[in-house]
Amino acid sequence: MPRSSIKRPPANLDLSEVLRDIDNLPELLSSASLFGNEAPLEIEIGSGKGLFMSTASAANPSHNFLGIEIMAKYAAHAAGRLLRSRANMPESKYNCMMISGNAEPLFQEHIEPGSLEAVHVYFPDPWWKKRHRKRRVVNETSIRNFSQALRSGGRLHFWTDVLDYFDNTVELIAELAPEFGVPIPEEKAEATHDLDYRTHFERRSRQHQIPVYRVRYERR
Ligand SMILES: C[S@@+](CC[C@H](N)C(=O)[O-])C[C@H]1O[C@@H](n2cnc3c(N)ncnc32)[C@H](O)[C@@H]1O
Repeated sequence: MPRSSIKRPPANLDLSEVLRDIDNLPELLSSASLFGNEAPLEIEIGSGKGLFMSTASAANPSHNFLGIEIMAKYAAHAAGRLLRSRANMPESKYNCMMISGNAEPLFQEHIEPGSLEAVHVYFPDPWWKKRHRKRRVVNETSIRNFSQALRSGGRLHFWTDVLDYFDNTVELIAELAPEFGVPIPEEKAEATHDLDYRTHFERRSRQHQIPVYRVRYERR
């Protein structure tokens, strides 16, 4: 299914507080360096339009949320959404921001081992062809990166509507990172209105009655 069109926020909107410049990042991405506190840090990879980032950060004010989105236009759109959702919060409670960039090198070079509370990956691009699989956001390298980055007890959430991607990920994790333990099935929310979905792609799949495969791991 093609993606719906997206608008960049107006050029005069100051996104600097919610959209960090990839060329000007602290050496380590942490709650201390990004938010000036020690709250648990959760990272979403591939935030798209930013629905998860805005709802999760509003629902969990005692955690910080960092979204990493490779497409600048989407990262800016998500940042605009975060700016709006922060409008009614006191500044001391600001707990979400975006970076526009590729998650893999950021995980390899900028995340302290054992520091993350959670990694979220929802509906990553499927890269159907076998020879393109290494481009998947969840691959052998990233599974090792996630394992290294998460604290003991930290969570990895992975949802997709591509059964092959789901099966392949569950197999890879069992083989490469047994410290993740058993896959824990996650339930969908009972959607009572149009925002009772974790992400835009979940909403789209459910509206078209496409099955969604959801799993969580809790690192030992
Ligand atoms: C299919 S969309 C899903 C968006 C959102 N998670 C949702 O469920 O609505 C996948 C997103 O991942 C982003 N993406 C792909 N590769 C990435 C990477 N290496 N690092 C960060 N984001 C990436 C894409 O630009 C795209 O916005």
